[in-house]
Order: sequence, then structure tokens, then C-alpha cells
Amino acid sequence: MPYKKIPGTKDILPDEALWWEKIELSARDIFRLYNYQPIRTPIIEEETLFNRSLGQTSEIVQKQMFLIKNKEDNYALRPEATVSVVRAYLENNIDKTSGFAKFYYMGPMFRFERPQKGRLRQFHHLGCEAIGSTDPSLDIETIALADDLLKAFSVFGYKIKINTLGCDKDKAMLAEFLRKRISEKKDLLCQDCSRRLETNVLRILDCKKTGCRQLVNTLQLEDFKICAECQTHFNRVSDGLNSIGIKYELSPYLVRGLDYYTRTVFEITHGELGAQDALGAGGRYDNLVKELGGPAQGAIGFAFGMERILLVAKLQDRQTPKNNLVYLIALGEEAKRGGIKILSELRKNNIACDTDYENKSLKGALRRANDIKASSVLILGEDELKRGIITVKNMLSGEQREVKREVLVEELRSQYAKNP
Ligand code: HAM
Repeated sequence: MPYKKIPGTKDILPDEALWWEKIELSARDIFRLYNYQPIRTPIIEEETLFNRSLGQTSEIVQKQMFLIKNKEDNYALRPEATVSVVRAYLENNIDKTSGFAKFYYMGPMFRFERPQKGRLRQFHHLGCEAIGSTDPSLDIETIALADDLLKAFSVFGYKIKINTLGCDKDKAMLAEFLRKRISEKKDLLCQDCSRRLETNVLRILDCKKTGCRQLVNTLQLEDFKICAECQTHFNRVSDGLNSIGIKYELSPYLVRGLDYYTRTVFEITHGELGAQDALGAGGRYDNLVKELGGPAQGAIGFAFGMERILLVAKLQDRQTPKNNLVYLIALGEEAKRGGIKILSELRKNNIACDTDYENKSLKGALRRANDIKASSVLILGEDELKRGIITVKNMLSGEQREVKREVLVEELRSQYAKNP
């Protein structure tokens, strides 16, 4: 085969795709519980939409954008969806019609990264955004939602880490505070962080390199205080989380890599993921709506990496989904013609079914039915046709019986009809 997929992309074959569907379905149920509505935005957007919102100095904008340049246009494959959702919210005047709105989404994102376990160039986000409020109760609800989703996916053993960045003024003051203290010991910094000292000093706080970690541990961050209003907001969030029994860690070094965050930020990690241990992350972005040309409105959201969810959900509570499938084996031309009708009737009655399209022998077709885990096989040969019956074989017990053609659907329906 001369063609191979691009590094950092993945074929999700049916066995695994079934698990994706299971997660997506339970996510929809949970989002509905919290009154979130689905939204689907394009995967391609104007490049400039991302540049300012994510931050010119952010890793994503500097190194990871998939850019598409036509004669006149500069487009980008979306590296994340928050900015697109806010764009859609404003472009469709939702700020004017409904004001506060809650959206959820699932879909592919693109970042040009060095592929490794849990780090892809095309990956999928399952995320949500609540736009139009600065109420700290919304931060609590959002973190509770993330927690509920993970429980619904049978993911256990994760850690929720939270921090506050304060408002824009606090962030600027924190940057100043850090620049001063770090400059005195800048020899300890890795190459990336030496650059960040000028461009994006906050990111030094969550660098994983040993020298940077050592330096950060000496900074005495507790000397830095955010403004009283932001501190009150954060206290309300942590009190609220305590009141509903959500376990979290305060993580003063958590800063997140995107510029749009203010106030509450959080990250959910899982020990089994290895180096890329973030299952998901999010936070407030109270200035983004205004920055994109809308009114001053608070907002908060988060996104899980689907691939990472599946890496850890796979290790726990995995059972093969039950396959209630009826497999028809029609032997000969006339039986095949009759078979088409049977299949059509079964499907109208909500019974999942399939048949042999490769002209296999009875033995071969039975083997196939076994391989695809059919629960019943219907055999329709010349003899059955003549006698107006069908042979029904239960693939679990091996029991075989003859059923009159006219009552076949009724009989199977009581056994197999899927709930609508
Ligand atoms: P993010 O932290 O960049 O946040 O991405 C969220 C999650 O996506 C990560 O925690 C990780 O699980 C997954 N992820 C990120 N990059 C990759 C990759 N290259 N391969 C596989 N998985 C990856 C955001 O994108 C924000 N938009 C989240 C948000 C929503 N904040 C507010 N609203």
C-alpha cells in the first residue's frame, strides 16, 4: 500500500469507534442534565481569529498552527474550539437574543506537535462553553460538570487542580513580580523559559524541566496577592466545591498556556497517562467576548481530550457491548429475493439485522455470523421457502427451531426490538 496516514493522526476502527460512540452518548446525557445545547462550528477559520485570542506568544500560535494559504486568504485549522464558539455566539447575535447561553461540542482539533503517547496532530475535544456570566456559581457548576462527565465515562483516579490567575491587572502584576524574581536566577532556566522570561513569563511556572522547577520553588509565590474582588470570587468557588463534595487540589503554579484565561483555571490529570497527563482543562475567559468585538461578558468552559479519556477509560470497566444482531442466511436466488423483504420488515420493526453478501456456503455464513457476534441466525433455503417457514438458530444456546414466516417478525420483535 503506497499510502499511509500522516504522523500524529489516527484511524479509529470500528472496535474502538464503538467506545467513542458510547462516551459521546453518555456525554450528551450529562450535558443535557446541565441544560447545555449542542453547537458545531467549522474546523477552518480565519487565522487571525486565533492569533490574538490565544496569544501571539502562546505555544499554539508560535509553533502549532496548521495554516492554509490561498491566493488571498489565510485560514487555519482550528487548534481549539473556545474562540470559534465565541465567534459563532457573536456572529449569530446570540448575545443580543438570548444573552447567557451554554454550548457543548465534540470534534477534531489540529495542532502541529511532535507526536507521542496521548499527543496527536489531529485529536478530538469534548468540551463546553457557558457565555454571558461572571457568577462564581457558574465556575462551581462547570467543574462539577467536568467531574460528572468523568464519572459517567468510568474514569477514576483523576485529580482536579484549580487556581486563580486574577483579572487582567492581576495577571500583569504577577508577570512583573515573576520577571523581577526570576531574572535574579535566570541561569537556571531552560532555553524555552529564557525566551518566556521576555514573552510569556507566567508559563515558566508550569515548566516541567528540573532547573525551572527548582527556581520556581524558590519564588515564594505566596508573597503575591491578587485583588480583593478576584480573591472573593475564588473563595466563593472553593467554598462551593467543598459544599457539594467535589475533591480538588489548590495548585498555585497552574497557569494554562492560552492568553485568554482570567480568574479560575483548572486542569484534570490522570497518573496513567504518562508525560501528557492532562485529561482536560479549562477556566474563565472573562475578556474574550469583548476582545472579539462583543459586550463585556464573562464566560467559562473546558475541554477534554477524547483520545486521553479513552486511554484511561479503556483500562477500567470495559465490557464488550452486547450485540443484538439477527443474521440472515438466504441460500439461492429465490431465497435471496425473499430475504430482502425479511430484512426490510425486521428493520421497520427496529430489529438490527444483516445478511451474507459474499455468496458463502451455509457453513461459511454461519462462521461469519459467529465472528460478528450475531445473537440469532435465520436460515432460508429451498426447503424453508417451500414450507413457508424459517429456521431460527440461537447462537448462544445453539438451539434451532422452525418458525412460521408470518409470525417471524412478531416473535423476534419481542426478543430483539431496540428501544427507540
Ligand atoms: P487545552 O488544554 O489546550 O485547552 O486542551 C484541552 C485538552 O485537550 C488537554 O487537556 C488534552 O487532554 C487535550 N489535548 C490538547 N492537545 C492535544 C494533542 N496534541 N493531542 C491529544 N490531546 C490533546 C483548550 O483547548 C481550551 N480550549 C479548553 C477550554 C475550553 N478552556 C475554556 N473552554
